[in-house]
Amino acid sequence: MKVTIDGQSIEVEPGTTILQAARMIGGELVPPAMCYYSKLKGSGGKCRCCLVEVAKGSDADPRPMPKLVASCVTGCMDGMEVNSKSSERVEEARKSVTEFLLINHPLDCPVCDQAGECDLQNLSFEHGKSKTRFIEEKRTFEPEDIGPYIQLHMNRCILCQRCVQVADQLTDNRVHGVMDRGDHANISTCISKAIDNEFSGNMIDVCPVGALTDKTFRFKSRVWFNKPYNAHRDCDKCCGKATVWMFGNEIQRVTGRKDEYHEVEEFICNTCRFDKKDVNDWVIEGPRKFEKDSVINQNNYTRKTEQVVIETEEHILLGREEDRKKISMPDFPLDSNPKKI
Ligand code: SF4
Ligand code: FES
Repeated sequence: MKVTIDGQSIEVEPGTTILQAARMIGGELVPPAMCYYSKLKGSGGKCRCCLVEVAKGSDADPRPMPKLVASCVTGCMDGMEVNSKSSERVEEARKSVTEFLLINHPLDCPVCDQAGECDLQNLSFEHGKSKTRFIEEKRTFEPEDIGPYIQLHMNRCILCQRCVQVADQLTDNRVHGVMDRGDHANISTCISKAIDNEFSGNMIDVCPVGALTDKTFRFKSRVWFNKPYNAHRDCDKCCGKATVWMFGNEIQRVTGRKDEYHEVEEFICNTCRFDKKDVNDWVIEGPRKFEKDSVINQNNYTRKTEQVVIETEEHILLGREEDRKKISMPDFPLDSNPKKI
């Protein structure tokens, strides 16, 4: 089947969603996703961040879809034409969804451990508005202790349900679900029951915001001060392939390896994540590549860089002739009384 997104065409298998097709093309046209997670069955369809415009339904039925659709749960049709980044309607809708997600989200970024690798922070950076229109009180929950490893901040939760799916798909007993509805909706009760499991730490990795963070790493460092390395160890519970986040020679945290869409490649067990913080526990493979959008991705030298053209007066960019000579030609005699120009 052929599908065209923002003018770029690709052949996909039947059953491929628009979001998956967009990721196959890659680049700016890929819609943001806060709840879809390719490694978790049944994820997606909750946050509405991934809205796109279907300008042509298919070759068989070329009518456009009247409403924007969630690309993570909408299948491609042969001949379908989709507008993502190129559509003003889509951009406006993403701004509105971001505004909704931020209605109840606290402005915790300066003190939140997720800052620097938070999907909501990145989404707000790209689609957020600088002002809030929300004058009501934000929804708050009583703090709940869910054990020694995971810190829960339900106030920050955007109810994407990824952690619920981790509990559902990686643990033995299904003891979870979204409790209550509307403003009162929360998942806290369910999480506390599903936390005693060897794979529960993966909830931290899938949480797109700072609602679930690693207690063993809490407030140790900002993520951008850590150096992430791919590392592996022999583990009888999981693949043993992880990313270790180092500060000097100290491993401050261990996470799953995440791809450019912030999704872990393979889930890891709690032993690897929480108990193996000694450098001798791991075989360090080398620096890892960073994910697409995040503070820690700035200055990433593995990305292709584009030449920047700055429109300004020529001499501002080039500097004074004598300064350039002094910098580039060490033999050039330094003038102790330079002429002013
Ligand atoms: S705690 Fe995190 S992963 Fe779980 S529903 Fe809330 S935002 Fe999603
Ligand atoms: S990623 Fe599609 S609805 Fe959330």
